[in-house]
Amino acid sequence: MTHPPGNPPGNPPGSTPGSTPGNNPRKTPAPPPGTAPGTAPGKTPVAIVTGAGSGIGRETAKLLALAGYHTVLVSRTLKNLQKTASLIEGPSTIHPTDLSCRSNCQQVIEQTLARLGRIDALANVAGCAPSVTIENITAELWQKNIDTNLSAIVHLTSAAWPTFKQQQQGIIVNVSSLASIDPFPGFSIYGAAKAGVNLFTLVTAREGASQGIKAVTIAPGAVETGMLRALFDESVIPADKTLRPQDIGQLICDCITGHKTFEPGEVITVPNEG
Ligand SMILES: NC(=O)c1ccc[n+]([C@@H]2O[C@H](COP(=O)([O-])OP(=O)(O)OC[C@H]3O[C@@H](n4cnc5c(N)ncnc54)[C@H](OP(=O)(O)O)[C@@H]3O)[C@@H](O)[C@H]2O)c1
Repeated sequence: MTHPPGNPPGNPPGSTPGSTPGNNPRKTPAPPPGTAPGTAPGKTPVAIVTGAGSGIGRETAKLLALAGYHTVLVSRTLKNLQKTASLIEGPSTIHPTDLSCRSNCQQVIEQTLARLGRIDALANVAGCAPSVTIENITAELWQKNIDTNLSAIVHLTSAAWPTFKQQQQGIIVNVSSLASIDPFPGFSIYGAAKAGVNLFTLVTAREGASQGIKAVTIAPGAVETGMLRALFDESVIPADKTLRPQDIGQLICDCITGHKTFEPGEVITVPNEG
């Protein structure tokens, strides 16, 4: 499902529909089509954003669209992706799928190439956050956690690799978590999967260095999203101590556009207050 570019009536150019006054995301200076790093003249760069149906992924997609990317929006829930597409100023393609399955990850890459002909950036934001004590870990919980938080990134990266190699250009931004370094009790399997993301990203960057492929991890603390609030209410983590999803989205976007520099495979930590 592809959505044409467009600014709904009543929204001035550069504004984000649905945003509140004074809370607009910064508009990254947009690389005009054909001038994003490595993009052929006249071509709109393409960014796949997983987890685009809500939270950090939605904000990332909105900002990448402002920066001139055709965004491919991926997560399971169609209506959430449609909502994200309606908020985006720019062309987008909706791809509802469950990324915990390897063949679905491969299809995201194959169908993006078939529809759009190129992939310039992969923002792996999708994730789930099981909180479980060690004695209550089940095989099913572990499998779902590892498939969603780690294997999906592995399969998407590996499916996109030949394209990035052929282009001699590509950027992968993976979202892990501060829980990969300093986890709360209950975050054993979540933290382990996210630590796997940190390491996989480092090797991705090292293998990609000679091919023009870059990779970086963003590891945020508590971000004000549905995921956080499903786990912790405000008596545990007050809202004024959390990070804003649009700020993490901006960091992801800046890594992709080159406005934020980083060491190959770096884990950029973003602690929240408190
Ligand atoms: N919020 C925090 O405090 C925090 C802190 C550190 C790191 N993070 C990380 O940030 C990322 C984004 O989380 P968020 O806070 O923005 O939470 P969120 O709003 O719940 O976003 C998670 C996204 O992932 C998608 N998703 C989950 N399972 C999926 C699957 N199997 N296949 C495809 N898509 C799937 C969800 O959509 P569907 O359910 O529709 O599929 C949703 O769009 C996650 O990787 C999370 O671990 C969050």
